[in-house]
Amino acid sequence: MDKLRVTGPCRLEGRVRISGAKNAVLPEMAAALLVEGPVTLENVPAVRDVLTMAKVLRHLGLRQVALEGSTLRAEDDGVREPEAPYDLVRTMRASILVLGPLLARCGRARVSLPGGCAIGARPIDLHIDALRRMGAAIDIEHGYVVASCGRLKGAEIEFPKVTVTGTENVMMAACLADGRTVLRNCALEPEIADLAAFLVACGARIEGAGTPTIVIDGVTRLRGTLHRVIPDRIEAGTFLMAAAITGGHVVIEACEPAHLSAVVALLKECGVPLTAGAGSIEVRPDGQLRAANVTTHPYPDFPTDLQAQYMALATRADGVSVITETVFENRFMHVGELRRMGARIVVRGQSAIVAGPAPLSGAPVMASDLRASACLVVAGLAAEGETVIDRIYHLDRGYERIETKLHALGARVERIK
Ligand code: UD1
Repeated sequence: MDKLRVTGPCRLEGRVRISGAKNAVLPEMAAALLVEGPVTLENVPAVRDVLTMAKVLRHLGLRQVALEGSTLRAEDDGVREPEAPYDLVRTMRASILVLGPLLARCGRARVSLPGGCAIGARPIDLHIDALRRMGAAIDIEHGYVVASCGRLKGAEIEFPKVTVTGTENVMMAACLADGRTVLRNCALEPEIADLAAFLVACGARIEGAGTPTIVIDGVTRLRGTLHRVIPDRIEAGTFLMAAAITGGHVVIEACEPAHLSAVVALLKECGVPLTAGAGSIEVRPDGQLRAANVTTHPYPDFPTDLQAQYMALATRADGVSVITETVFENRFMHVGELRRMGARIVVRGQSAIVAGPAPLSGAPVMASDLRASACLVVAGLAAEGETVIDRIYHLDRGYERIETKLHALGARVERIK
């Protein structure tokens, strides 16, 4: 199992290019199941989740699913086997995204339940309830979601809670349904608008993606297209935190500053000078970081996927920062590891109270999930001495060549095989 050795402290300097958004590519790959003809996605990050989704698609019968550089091609050959088995799904919860497309295209699907997840229970009841409203018969049998339908029927559905992949799953299913589907209380994440843009280019009729109400008029078929994936706002945010914690001077390139407003606002409150340009954000060094409170919420508020990385930063800020997690119930597993590096953090219910600035010292630490791993990398950059992060397969799920990118900015980071 690979580990990452980070030797700190360092000061990042230079320019870094952000990859395409993992959380946009995954639903777009699943959407290829809806499409007749070749699909080409550009700006695709070569991360493990993308490779896992490619395996799922190949298993389902898509031909020529191949990632060359940052271009992914997939071609429909008629879905032969609408079953996503446990072995593939257990490593990536987002595999559930094939449920809606399979039902809409094949009229049946058998998808393994994603199961427990380190950051909370993460049920899929909202996906299932919505697809049932569209006429699908769905049972849970032997750990699988077993679903069947004739042609799905358009329906009016209000999500009782905002769900990102739930919104995506149902929006995709509705593209080939009979009649109009109106989805209310949808997630507003930019990845949903990007998925809709891709589907519209394939011939789907979707309005309102990126707003709380999405209206989809079903069509009988979708055709292949070429689509360029939006930049990964979570990767960009992670590099912003990394630059800020090291007092570095870094230009984050090929990102979308408009998708990072809440993150930029928080960093400014912490006293980090940032300048947003067209497709870039510049972070300049400036004195002591200041503590600031933050609460995670669905987009456009501060993302849960940057909570852990911000906590690393808060350990080095002057004063007390209260970080409240409202999206997932168990997303503080990095706290124990940060404490081993010298951080002063107590958890009270949904809030972590961080007293800074704490001098961080390198230590052997364990990554518990994708974003927690990124938090330990950020902390390691500011810590005195060696931080060796175990279980970085979590990091590889969502960050493309992170050690190469950090190395190019002057960090001492190496992968230990
Ligand atoms: C997506 C992102 C993930 C991010 C999360 C929140 C992808 C591939 N993943 O995950 O990186 O952290 O959004 O921004 O895009 N819930 C239910 N029932 C459901 C579905 C969700 O109760 O059927 C709950 C979840 O447990 C959680 C909340 O709703 O508490 C939000 O989850 P959701 O938006 O669905 O997260 P994901 O789509 O899994």
